[in-house]
Amino acid sequence: MSERPRLSVIGTGYLGATHAVCMVELGYEVIGLDVDHAKIDALRAGQIPFFEPGLPELLAKHMDSGKLRFTTDYAEVAEFADVHFVCVGTPQKQGQYAADLTYVEAAFTSLAQHLTRRALVVGKSTVPAGTAARMAQLLADVSPNKDVELAWNPEFLREGFAVEDTLRPDRLVFGVHSEWAEQTIRSAFAPVIENGCPVIVTDYATAELVKVAANSFLATKISFINAMAEVCEATGADVTQLADAIGHDARIGRRFLNAGLGFGGGCLPKDIRAFIARAGELGVDQAVSFLRDVDEINLRRRARTVELGLDLNDGSYRGTKVAVLGAAFKPNSDDVRDSPALDVAASIARRGAEVYLYDPEANANAAKRHPELTYVNTLDEAVSGADLVMLLTEWNEFRQMDPEFIGSKVNKRNIVDGRNVLDPVQWRGAGWVYRSLGRP
Ligand code: UGA
Repeated sequence: MSERPRLSVIGTGYLGATHAVCMVELGYEVIGLDVDHAKIDALRAGQIPFFEPGLPELLAKHMDSGKLRFTTDYAEVAEFADVHFVCVGTPQKQGQYAADLTYVEAAFTSLAQHLTRRALVVGKSTVPAGTAARMAQLLADVSPNKDVELAWNPEFLREGFAVEDTLRPDRLVFGVHSEWAEQTIRSAFAPVIENGCPVIVTDYATAELVKVAANSFLATKISFINAMAEVCEATGADVTQLADAIGHDARIGRRFLNAGLGFGGGCLPKDIRAFIARAGELGVDQAVSFLRDVDEINLRRRARTVELGLDLNDGSYRGTKVAVLGAAFKPNSDDVRDSPALDVAASIARRGAEVYLYDPEANANAAKRHPELTYVNTLDEAVSGADLVMLLTEWNEFRQMDPEFIGSKVNKRNIVDGRNVLDPVQWRGAGWVYRSLGRP
């Protein structure tokens, strides 16, 4: 394998588009493939089809370098690249906990059919343990070239920090079953490794599990602090101070101990459910049964937020105007998949509230899922005349709100802080009735 292998990225969704652009930034020649012509047309026109800070600029920088191109043709990809990264989605199956592997299987099959020369195929998608071994067999059965090999390389990037996480990851995990595969995948990450990034070389099953274990741990950490928030609510204690105090213990750590509306997005919720499903198939369901509690604690926070608003609205949402601040599952993202904020907004609308929703980036995506809500383009429009303000995604614009200024716009000074980011003393001092999750 040459020192700088040529790369392909199959699937140009969130993960794939980021990976393709960042690998060019690292000095590789890259071809990105998607079966969705609209996505490829957008990328060819220099547009990133989702909101991710820094990525459009990076795409613009490399657009005309000749090192990055996009296609819908598997034959072209197979001919061009030495290393193929499969980055397609594994969503939750409709009505079930298990992951839907349709896209992974289709991508591997389509690629394999065209692999006439030696190549390394690298799975990056989040998959149930055992998938990599099946994909290795698929490659062996389908590829015309019998020297095609598989590696599994889970991805840990966070939305909103995707560029930084890809260029400077905190570790690389390579699941490989041969010396050649290890050397080849190392050559595909050479600049990152030279930069000092730790590398863990392991087998397929461990590599697959690292990813679901990491996301399960993060989800558990969030639900742990949200469980403590429930106890705080029953005792009058303050969960943010509790988190600061336990977080000083380096063994615990303060990160991911922010209590509030809980986790959402396209990863944590579906990954823990897929893990529960897979553990059941493997006969070790008891080992991860706690993840059911993690999921339930998380969903209870949404219900609790709806209740808090109800209390402030004297027991009924009917006929009241509610300003909902935030629709994205977290700030710096336009992603509304399994978004706690959007879920709460839809729930209070069903209970008769007139919801005026404002998110700096996610209005359009939210409107596709919940067209029944009213979307406005400024914070000002959202809060004007509101009987209740609900802060549900902690964008900086909302963290920095001035209680006097917002107070001059609303009909009633009632606020639910679903992310524990406002200062209760300041807001109460300005005459607001302030309620939050896990704080008195
Ligand atoms: C998560 C992981 O953090 C990444 O490492 C992983 O690569 C990614 O999933 C994935 O599997 O692709 P992401 O979904 O972008 O990344 O978002 P996070 O930053 O992890 O936040 C997840 C959710 O937890 C958000 O809804 C956030 O608001 C919530 N959260 C996070 C809390 O409620 N409290 C916290 O303290 C931290």
